[in-house]
Amino acid sequence: MEISVSYLSSKYSKEATIRLIEATDADYIHVDLMDGGFVPHKNFTIDEVLALLGEHKKPLDIHLMVFDPIIYIEELAKLKPKYITFHVEATKDIVKTIEEIRKYGIHVGLSIKPNTDLYELMPYLSLVDLVLLMSVEPGAGGQEFIFDSVARLQELVKVREENHLSFKIEMDGGINKDTIKLVKELDIAVSGSFICKGENYQEKINELRNI
Ligand code: DX5
Ligand code: ZN
Repeated sequence: MEISVSYLSSKYSKEATIRLIEATDADYIHVDLMDGGFVPHKNFTIDEVLALLGEHKKPLDIHLMVFDPIIYIEELAKLKPKYITFHVEATKDIVKTIEEIRKYGIHVGLSIKPNTDLYELMPYLSLVDLVLLMSVEPGAGGQEFIFDSVARLQELVKVREENHLSFKIEMDGGINKDTIKLVKELDIAVSGSFICKGENYQEKINELRNI
């Protein structure tokens, strides 16, 4: 399982947190962007994100918690991220948004909130590289893991197998050294406060890997 580290909640500045993540063996930097509409809080301008991550070394895993994700893609493509993931609940133009991300050679992720029926994903599963299952309500770090997410993961693994599909499955929210044991089938686990609220990021990542 790969580990993607979210710097949303940390005791240090965003810049310092990113430097600390870069010094570990984490597989990705998970970039949470919120527009103050799809989720209550806004946490970025495009210029800030480009400045903050312009020099990044690890692959970026961008998680858009925004309405109309399509309008952000051209600018975010300048960061050459590995993945751009948007929410199935955020737009009616899902296929168009997938195509827009692909246009830049970026891998496409589709995310789903904990209370949205997994059925909503079905028409798009053959078109995406990644499905991001939210295991908390999107919008803030440091929330408790929602245990129904375990059954949702199992269901999605089954759908993937039955349909001979190859998208990766990622989960985001409340992942720590205990909850990660419940979701071992994941391809990528996002973890934020469990890692970034600690002192020694590598030690925390080792605890996640050591399951
Ligand atoms: C929540 C964000 C997450 C968050 C995860 O809306 O998408 O990426 O930072 O943080 P933890 O691991 O603290 O739940
Ligand atoms: Zn996220």
